[in-house]
Amino acid sequence: MVSRQAEVPLFIDAGLPTGSIRDDVMAGLSRSPRSLPPKLFYDEEGSRLFDAICELDEYYPTRTEIGIMRTRLDEIVEAVGAGALLVEYGSGSSVKTEILLERLDQLAGYVPIDISREHLLASASRIARRHPNLAIYPVAADYTTMIPGLADLTAKHRAVVYFPGSTIGNFQPSEAEAFLTRAAKLVGPGGGMLIGVDLRKDASVLEAAYDDALGVTAAFNLNILRHINREAGADFDLGAFRHRAVWNGEASRIEMHLVSRFDQEVRIGDAVIPLTSGESIVTEHSYKYTLPGFAEMATRAGFNTAQTWTDSGDLFSLHYLVARAGGAGKE
Ligand code: AVI
Repeated sequence: MVSRQAEVPLFIDAGLPTGSIRDDVMAGLSRSPRSLPPKLFYDEEGSRLFDAICELDEYYPTRTEIGIMRTRLDEIVEAVGAGALLVEYGSGSSVKTEILLERLDQLAGYVPIDISREHLLASASRIARRHPNLAIYPVAADYTTMIPGLADLTAKHRAVVYFPGSTIGNFQPSEAEAFLTRAAKLVGPGGGMLIGVDLRKDASVLEAAYDDALGVTAAFNLNILRHINREAGADFDLGAFRHRAVWNGEASRIEMHLVSRFDQEVRIGDAVIPLTSGESIVTEHSYKYTLPGFAEMATRAGFNTAQTWTDSGDLFSLHYLVARAGGAGKE
């Protein structure tokens, strides 16, 4: 017998972001230091490699966050409360969400937001099959932008944004604060945010997490060049670069770089970019927070920290934030 797919229609389709990949790439490569937009990691192969990273011994965040969720699930479910509308930013394959949905059985609805329509609709259908009584409102959009129509939906319920995985660490701190401020406005006073945040720790643990022995993170980093070759008409030679991950303690971030192995020229459409031997291109920053540092940023953004959970080794943290009346800047 063929099992029927539970089809979930898109609730909002905000369309693809404007601006071409080539323009974004050229803008980054023209800066000093040169950089590439980390969102370009995630083509099909990049998403597959990222899933493989999450399984690595060295990459502690995924299993640690899942461990915290499983051990503190009663408290998390109580903090989120009954009747909430759960809005997930960058839902992807929604694996961690399943842990929540198994227990949050009195939700007003689930709003997965993801830029990839295919990923979004596939995981919405999967969730609909497992939770036939759950109202699902899939939103195809870039969650870092204003999404038309979303505030109308969140205004009708007590909304709780779910943002796991420490993706907040991939924003520059000022952007992270602006992003949290927008989330506090979206959910409004009394609304919440459940967010995963990676913590500062020994440089050797961090550098191993971003430069694993099997070379999966190196392949993930180099794959951005393959994606750019395809989408922006570039001719990067993947063999001409090496992966480098380094802890910058002063800025409290892991930096991922692609380092040119020799003097070379790269073509992007009609443009030619000269690279010298040893010159590096920054592909990603992953900021690591302290618990007080993150709580202060959440306060400035208009949230009060209701609860914080960590693992026994203080590697990773999960926070339940509640938006204040009056918004950012007021306590
Ligand atoms: C998606 N993000 C939270 C990951 C991180 O740890 O910053 C991306 C990543 N880059 C290399 N490994 C994982």
